[in-house]
Amino acid sequence: MNKLKLNLIALSLLFAGAAQADEGMWLMQMMQEQNSIELMQKAGLELAADELYSPSGVSLKDAVGIFGGGCTGEIVSANGLIFTNHHCGYESIQQHSSVEHDYLTDGFWAMSLEEELPCPGLTFKFIDKIVDVTDIVNQRIAEGLITEGESLTYEFQDKLRKELYQQSEYNGRRGIETELLPFYAGNKFYMFYIKSYDDIRMVAAPPSSIGKFGGETDNWMWPRHTCDFSVFRVYADAEGNPAEYSEDNVPLHTPKHLTISLGGYEEGDYAMIMGFPGSTSRYLTRSEVEMVMNSENEPRIAIRDARLNVLREAMAASDKVRIQYASKFAQSSNYWKNAIGMNKALIDNKVLEQKTAQEEAFARYAAEVGNEAYAKVVGEIDAQVGEASELTYLWTCAVETFVAIEFRSPAQYMSELVKAKEEGNEDAVESLKAQLDVIYDDIHNKDYDHQVDCQVARAVLPLYAKLAGESRPDFYDIVANDYNGDYDRFVNDLYSKSIFSSRENLAKFLKKPTEKALKKDLGYRVSMSMTDNLISLGESKQRMEQVLAIPHKTYIRGLCEMKQERQNIPSAPDANFTLRLTYGNVKSYDPRDAVHYDYYTTLDGVMQKEDAHNPEFVVPEKLKQLYEAKDYGQYAMPDGRMPAAFITTNDITGGNSGSPVLDSRGRLIGLAFDGNWESLSGDLNFDNSLQRCIAVDIRYVLFIIDKLGGCHRLIDELTIDN
Ligand code: ARG
Repeated sequence: MNKLKLNLIALSLLFAGAAQADEGMWLMQMMQEQNSIELMQKAGLELAADELYSPSGVSLKDAVGIFGGGCTGEIVSANGLIFTNHHCGYESIQQHSSVEHDYLTDGFWAMSLEEELPCPGLTFKFIDKIVDVTDIVNQRIAEGLITEGESLTYEFQDKLRKELYQQSEYNGRRGIETELLPFYAGNKFYMFYIKSYDDIRMVAAPPSSIGKFGGETDNWMWPRHTCDFSVFRVYADAEGNPAEYSEDNVPLHTPKHLTISLGGYEEGDYAMIMGFPGSTSRYLTRSEVEMVMNSENEPRIAIRDARLNVLREAMAASDKVRIQYASKFAQSSNYWKNAIGMNKALIDNKVLEQKTAQEEAFARYAAEVGNEAYAKVVGEIDAQVGEASELTYLWTCAVETFVAIEFRSPAQYMSELVKAKEEGNEDAVESLKAQLDVIYDDIHNKDYDHQVDCQVARAVLPLYAKLAGESRPDFYDIVANDYNGDYDRFVNDLYSKSIFSSRENLAKFLKKPTEKALKKDLGYRVSMSMTDNLISLGESKQRMEQVLAIPHKTYIRGLCEMKQERQNIPSAPDANFTLRLTYGNVKSYDPRDAVHYDYYTTLDGVMQKEDAHNPEFVVPEKLKQLYEAKDYGQYAMPDGRMPAAFITTNDITGGNSGSPVLDSRGRLIGLAFDGNWESLSGDLNFDNSLQRCIAVDIRYVLFIIDKLGGCHRLIDELTIDN
C-alpha cells in the first residue's frame, strides 16, 4: 500500500473516531467554538444548535436541572413534573417511610396533586444563564491586579462572583444562586446564574424490589434489570417564582418539557445525554493516578468496609434499623464498590501504562514546539506527589472516619455556653441552651440509632488509628493513657457518659455548664481533636493544591493543544457538576474473552434473576402477574417483550444519575443511572471500547407507572410520541 493511501485511511479513521465522539462531557455553551454541533449532526443528530442550547431562547437545556444535592432530573410535563432515578429520590422516599408507611418496600403513588408529599430541604435547580468570564480574569492578571496564582484560588473566584452578581440583572432576586468556576484547571472561567426551587414534592416511586432490583450485587454492573426511576414535581408561587413550601403554592408551569418516544432504539442509533456530571480527573499524571489508587480508594475501601459490615448485620436484625439506615447504607456502599472497581479497572485497562505513554508523547511534543514550560511540567507535578499523597491519604482517612460516625458533640456551642455562663450573659446562656437542645435532636434524629452508631465507632476508630499511624489525632492518647488501649471500653464510655450521649446527661450539663465538666467530657475532647485534625489537614491540602495549580493549568493546556494539533480533536474539560452534553451511540460490548454483552435487557431477565430468598432479587407478585399476562399496553417492543435497560457509549459519571437519554430528535428514550464495571477507571481515563452508560428504558418506566402503579393521571400529563 502506498503512503498516500495509508495517510488517507489514517485520516478517515481519525474523523470517523471524531464523529462518534463518545468521550467528552461537552460544555453546551462552547459547542459553536469547538465545532461539536457539526460533529454531532454527522453522528446522527437531527436538531439545530439552538434547539439544544440557546443563550436567549427556550431550548432542551431548559428541561434539565439539578435534582437535590447531586443528581440530575428532567421536566416531562408542562406542570413541572420531574423524572429522576429511584436512587436519587431514595433519601426522600426513605425519609417519608416508617414501619407503618414503608414506601421503600411498597412504593408510593400519589393519585392526586393533594397526595403529593412535600420534601423539606429538597431543591430543583435550572441553569438560567451561562457567561464566559475568562477575559475578565485574564485582564485582571494583565493589569497586575492579581497574579496568575491568585486567579486560581477560591478566594479570588468567589470575590469576582459576588462582584459580577451585584452588577447583574439577577441581583436581589429570590431563589437565584450563582457559581463562578474554573474549567481546564483555570484556562477558562464561566459564571452560572441558577434558579433554585425549594418546594419539591414526591409524586411516585416504585417498590425498591423494582426501583432497586439487583441491589448492591448488580450495582455498577451490566447486564442490568433495575427500573431506577422516581417522580417529583416543582411547585412555585402563583407567579412561577421560587417560594418556600406553602399550601398555596402551585405546580410550576414550565416553558419547556421533554417529549417521550416509545419508538425504542437499535444498535448504533444516535443517543445523547444532558446532565450534571460531578467530578472526573482525566488529565492526571501517572503518579497522580497512583495517588488516587493508594491514597483515596484504598483507605476509603477499608473504612467503609468496616462500617458497612456493622450496618448490614444491624439492618438484617431489625426492620426499624433497616428503614433508618437504608439510604446511608446505599450511599456509602455505592462509592465503596466504585473504589474497588476503579482500582481493578485501572490495572486491567492498563491505565498506568497509557499514562506513561501519554507523558512520553507530551515530552516529544514539548520538544518539537520548543515549549520549556511544557517540557518541565510533568516533573514539577511529580516532585510534589510524595507529599501530596501523604496528605491525601490522611485526609481521606479522617474524612471517611468523620462521616462514618454520626455521633458528635457540638464543641463550639458547648464552650460558648460555658463562657456566657462565666460572664453572666443570661440572654446568651438561654439562647445557647435552646440551640444545644435543637442540636441534640438533630443528632439523635428519627433515622439514628445510638447503639448502631456505637458499634460503628467500635469498628472504625481502631481502624483509623491503625491506618493513620503516628499521624492520628491526639484524642487517641486518651485511649492509650486512660483506657490502656481498650477501644471497646473507651467507645462505650464515649457513648454512655458524654454530655451528648443522652438527654439526662445533657440536662445535667445545661443545669451547670462549667469549664470543668467540659474539660473532662469525652465527647467534647474527641470532637475538638477530630475537628482540629481535619482543619489542619485541610489547610495543608489547600496549600498543596495552590502549589500544583499553575503546573496543572499548564499541563492541561498543553495536552489539549497536542490533541487538537496532532489529531484535530477538541478536549472537554473535567466534570465539575456543571451542565454538560455527551453524545454517542447505543452499543453492545465485549467485556472479556469470548463474552458478548447485548445492548439491551428485558423483563424476561428480571424473571430469570428472581430469587425469593435474596431480598435484592425478589420480584413483586403484581409484576409477575403482568409478566404472565403480557399486559404491556403501548409500552411493549414490536416483538411483544417488555424492554428493561440499555447501554450507550455516552460519557457520564456520578451526578449524571437521572439524566435524560435523548434520541436524534431530542426525545426521551431512557434515564441514565449507572456505569459498567469494566470501565470504572473511566473517571480517570475514558476507554472508547469498554465504557458504557447504563439507562433504564423509558417504556419500562411508563409501564410500571401505568400498569403497576395505576397512576394514569401522570401518563396523561406526558407528551408521548409513538
Ligand atoms: N451506581 C449508581 C450511581 O452511582 C447508583 C446506584 C444506586 N444503587 C445501589 N444499589 N446502591 O449512579
